[in-house]
Amino acid sequence: MSKSIRIGIIGTGGIAGQHLRSYRMIEDVEVVAVADIVPGKAENFVRRWEIPHVTAFEDYRKMLELDLDGVSVCTPNAAHFHPTVDALRAGKHVMLEKPMSVTLEESIEMVGTAKETGLLLNVGFQPRYDPNMKTIHDFIQSGQLGKVYYVETGGGRRRGMPGGTFIRKELAGAGAMADIGCYSLDLALHALGYPKPLTVSASTTNHFGTNAIYHPEAASFDVEDFGTALIRLEGDLVLNFKISWAMHMDTLGGTMFLGTDAGLKVTPSGKGPWSGVFDGGVGSMTLYHDVRGHHVESSIPIIEHKLDLFVEKVRDFVRAIRDNAPAPISGEQILRNQAIIDGFLRSSQLKREVEVHIPNI
Ligand SMILES: NC(=O)c1ccc[n+]([C@@H]2O[C@H](COP(=O)([O-])OP(=O)(O)OC[C@H]3O[C@@H](n4cnc5c(N)ncnc54)[C@H](O)[C@@H]3O)[C@@H](O)[C@H]2O)c1
Repeated sequence: MSKSIRIGIIGTGGIAGQHLRSYRMIEDVEVVAVADIVPGKAENFVRRWEIPHVTAFEDYRKMLELDLDGVSVCTPNAAHFHPTVDALRAGKHVMLEKPMSVTLEESIEMVGTAKETGLLLNVGFQPRYDPNMKTIHDFIQSGQLGKVYYVETGGGRRRGMPGGTFIRKELAGAGAMADIGCYSLDLALHALGYPKPLTVSASTTNHFGTNAIYHPEAASFDVEDFGTALIRLEGDLVLNFKISWAMHMDTLGGTMFLGTDAGLKVTPSGKGPWSGVFDGGVGSMTLYHDVRGHHVESSIPIIEHKLDLFVEKVRDFVRAIRDNAPAPISGEQILRNQAIIDGFLRSSQLKREVEVHIPNI
């Protein structure tokens, strides 16, 4: 029988429960410790989830003294950096929640530490495990679109503003651009093989979050609830991006890839106020192409699945630990996603295009 994998969870708020639930569904994995900076919160988590033989900590650094194989970092975005670097330095593999960090510098240091220690730094984008995402990826990579020269992605929620730690810049770093924008970027960039970003020109607003009519915590809302950007990528590729947590519109559209031989349109699933953004599944896929001057549209069948995407992402992390395999969604790759988000923030503040530099690590 293989040795069981011992896991700790840092931050026991909303998403930590999903991590615990997922680990519990995987054979030979035990969650043995949890930590939260708020006194009593980790103990409450242990009681609420009825987890036997789990030690609760207030200081995650104490938890890292235990014999653990890996940790899930489930803290607010601004608190991703220290627990991740400390966990890697303590010899633990890391499953880090999205978005990777608040600043590009933090992501660079996290990736550097993972390289130095030879441990996994895996970023939790569960939509990757939707088989339709794989279809999009494989389709683009097969070259059937020809040279892809333009991509549009993002979409948006009509009324889908979070609260709490998500709307305060000091904790979240950014608003919709990072929170749900990172998923849309991952969908498009992963399909394209994560080309290197070169420049970003972005603009952001927060007309709804800061208005008490629309948000109960308007007084403490200081991130963007809407944003748009033009990103130039290597290989003469342009990405047109737009995202919203709130707007007077049903959708900002889905994702499209324009290639020299064909175009692919991807519509998100979901209806109502939360529709239109790729933190959910894929609703439809249409291929637009021309055969000797005749316009042709073909639907690509959607794969119905019963996969629990969150469990799949956690399972893949555990598999990588067990098999000594590379991180399934590596920090090194997601550095490019983070560099774009960093560009969004710099450019919208400066109100002009900015260059994106990613050092070799
Ligand atoms: N993958 C997904 O579907 C998904 C969904 C929601 C949130 N998230 C991400 O998960 C992260 C957490 O989100 P959440 O909704 O659970 O937030 P949350 O505010 O509910 O929980 C965060 C917890 O971390 C604790 N914390 C803060 N600093 C800490 C520290 N230094 N040490 C230990 N604990 C600390 C807080 O006290 C809080 O209990 C965010 O990065 C968010 O973007 C991912």
